Amino acid sequence: MTTSSIRCRVWWARPSIETPRLLGLLDTVERERHAAYRLAVDQVRFLTARVVAKALAADALGIEPGRVNLDSTCPDCGRTHGKPRVVAPQGHPPGRALPELSISHSGDLVAVAITDGLPVGVDVEQERDVSVDDLVRLTLSAGELDSFAAVAPPDKDAAFFTYWARKEAILKATGRGLAIPMTRITVTPWDTEPRVVDSQASEVDANRMRMAQLDAGSGYRACVAVIAGPDFPATGWVSEHDADPLVAKLA
Ligand SMILES: CC(C)(COP(=O)(O)OP(=O)(O)OC[C@H]1O[C@@H](n2cnc3c(N)ncnc32)[C@H](O)[C@@H]1OP(=O)(O)O)[C@@H](O)C(=O)NCCC(=O)NCCS
Repeated sequence: MTTSSIRCRVWWARPSIETPRLLGLLDTVERERHAAYRLAVDQVRFLTARVVAKALAADALGIEPGRVNLDSTCPDCGRTHGKPRVVAPQGHPPGRALPELSISHSGDLVAVAITDGLPVGVDVEQERDVSVDDLVRLTLSAGELDSFAAVAPPDKDAAFFTYWARKEAILKATGRGLAIPMTRITVTPWDTEPRVVDSQASEVDANRMRMAQLDAGSGYRACVAVIAGPDFPATGWVSEHDADPLVAKLA
């Protein structure tokens, strides 16, 4: 893999610290959202994801993290809980692409994906005890339900959360998220390389959606999806990194 072929970087953090310096990186809207979480675990996950996203965007733009503004306006309702978009800083050359980001949190992990301007979606899911058989009908397409029925019982949870992470990554790349029903997309079977097989959603073009399975560690399933341009490499386009030192440096 050459460094120049990497078009998407995924950074992993284990949220644990809240300091005044980290909180100082949040803008007014972000501080309100942080304060609105009732559980400390949700607060620290939100803060960590924002700090990592700002550190990465700052590096890409050549500015300080405190100067990065993220606009999370939801395209469906106008509230500030949508996909974060990097706002062009003062002096940003018109026409130069801005970095694109995607954020996910689950269990003890935060994932932040960044590209140099291609829409990206990342999703991490901690495998947990849920009634998988009820959820699959809301999640899987008819073709996927057939594949899922053949999965051995001990693998059912892993299979379900793999499908979920793949489909949520795709939908997050579009910026619409779960406003698009997951059942409109069909992906490859859970134990094979991720790819869109069929899309009944106008926002998802199967030919342009590139996906990669991520290594989130035991008990987690994770995937990243990028809406690719014509020069996108077939392989070796994603790399994974430890974001904890980034957070520690800013704390
Ligand atoms: C956001 C959503 C993907 C939640 O996923 P989840 O598994 O609970 O949580 P994750 O941690 O994986 O992802 C949350 C992150 O996704 C991002 N996100 C939110 N809306 C998004 C969207 N429409 N597209 C892409 N990313 C989105 C945000 O960065 C959010 O984290 P943040 O608020 O801390 O910045 C899901 O609730 C969703 O798609 N919501 C929007 C669609 C919707 O319901 N619209 C109708 C109501 S307005």
